[in-house]
Amino acid sequence: MTPHHIAIVMDGNGRWANKRFMPRVAGHRQGLEALRRCIRLCLDRGVGVLTVFAFSSENWARPADEVSGLMELLAGALAREVPSLKDNGVQLHFVGDRRGLSDKVCQGFEQAQGATAHNRRLVLNICFNYGGRWDIAQAAQQVAQSGEAITPERLAGALALAHVPDPDLLIRTGGELRISNFLLWQLAYTELHFSDVLWPDFDAPHLDEAIDAFAGRERRFGKTSAQVAPAVHKTSAA
Ligand code: IPE
Ligand code: IPE
Ligand code: MG
Repeated sequence: MTPHHIAIVMDGNGRWANKRFMPRVAGHRQGLEALRRCIRLCLDRGVGVLTVFAFSSENWARPADEVSGLMELLAGALAREVPSLKDNGVQLHFVGDRRGLSDKVCQGFEQAQGATAHNRRLVLNICFNYGGRWDIAQAAQQVAQSGEAITPERLAGALALAHVPDPDLLIRTGGELRISNFLLWQLAYTELHFSDVLWPDFDAPHLDEAIDAFAGRERRFGKTSAQVAPAVHKTSAA
């Protein structure tokens, strides 16, 4: 079964570039190509929601030229990619802390979201200046300000991804076995898939491998295997 919501930590751009004696930003540029390809694949496979980690709260600590290169790539993508996403039924959301981002980028986010809000084929969440800890803290602050009790349900409703169900499958490329402050709350029962492929090389066989692995998992959500196994129907002839 195809997962409804796939989340991806798109990691390995820097190493992809290093291997080719290219600047790290060249890896990010190629990473953008891989994302474009991955969106098409998800559309083809009937995935409902794709959530990608594009820039973390902690990535500001990288060298200034890499951070500015990533901001330029983002601005270029906002200017160029939105029309085709719009035409292909993609509903865009930019998820993360807007503080620290330029007014121009924030306006670009709003315009892209507004232009694609009516689309229903694929919800694409781009997590930019996102951190799982930031998300939980901002949600807790919202609930506290409302004066309501802080319950899991109320908190979930205030998180930055409240418009979609939790991810079914998380893919991390680049070989690292960690979450790196991605969706800390939402990954509670997500199936995890780690791939050694560097993100710029990620293509159809790697996505299909992850989807196949997911299809073989038994999701128990705390229950026993007997409780969740599909019921075997006895026929009256037996
Ligand atoms: C992921 O690739 C993209 C961002 C974090 C923006 P990296 O840049 O982390 O690539 P590696 O891990 O150094 O290879
Ligand atoms: C996670 O990758 C963030 C993104 C992919 C945007 P990092 O490369 O920043 O993670 P660490 O530093 O290896 O944990
Ligand atoms: Mg990395």
